[in-house]
Amino acid sequence: MIPVLTIDGPSGVGKGTIAYIMSQKLHWNLLDSGAIYRAFAVAATNRDIKIDNVDDLLKLASNLDLKFHSDPGQNNLNIYLDNVEISAELRTEKTAELASNYAMIGPLRESLLIRQQKFKQLPGLVADGRDMGTVVFSDAPFKVFLTADVEERAKRRLKQLHDKGITGNISHTLEEVHKRDERDANRKHSPLKPAKDALIIDTTNLTINEVVTKVVALVKA
Ligand code: DC
Repeated sequence: MIPVLTIDGPSGVGKGTIAYIMSQKLHWNLLDSGAIYRAFAVAATNRDIKIDNVDDLLKLASNLDLKFHSDPGQNNLNIYLDNVEISAELRTEKTAELASNYAMIGPLRESLLIRQQKFKQLPGLVADGRDMGTVVFSDAPFKVFLTADVEERAKRRLKQLHDKGITGNISHTLEEVHKRDERDANRKHSPLKPAKDALIIDTTNLTINEVVTKVVALVKA
């Protein structure tokens, strides 16, 4: 039995940070499933495959040459597509928006499923995304769903972008975060929603440490 902790939630809620801290605490593997959707979006855009060309999108998904690398003890996932580093391009809002659009395509999600499930390796896995607890690891023993007010999430997203040297303004970021969440939550296939057995944590007024304490308590229990 390989234990899995799933951390789902909308954009800008801090899933990546909490997932990284938990993976360090537990010494478990880490899956940033959003990075797979983002890398797919970069690959499809590079090849100029249109969003309605599902056959070619599926071919691309099954041949996607994607490698992840992170330095031990650092939250810096480096992603290589066809052996070229695309980490900076991956983190832009433009890529996020494209990823959210491709993520609506049901057969594409299915073809990216096994790639995600392969991350489930001993001694355990922390997986963050939108459908980790509901679909990809629906039998996970530990499930968390993070929420926060949209204004707070926009602020966090803006800070994240600034820390990476990317500029933006609050009203534009707020609009983007809101639009993406609406699309992710209202799509037909694997929409963003809490699993029935997930612990829901509203992080609007919580520090990172306070959220981590709640997640640690869940895993310990
Ligand atoms: O977590 P993120 O911001 O990197 O995700 C980018 C987009 O990818 C998100 O808006 C929707 C899609 N996604 C998804 O549909 N399912 C996941 N498990 C992870 C991401």
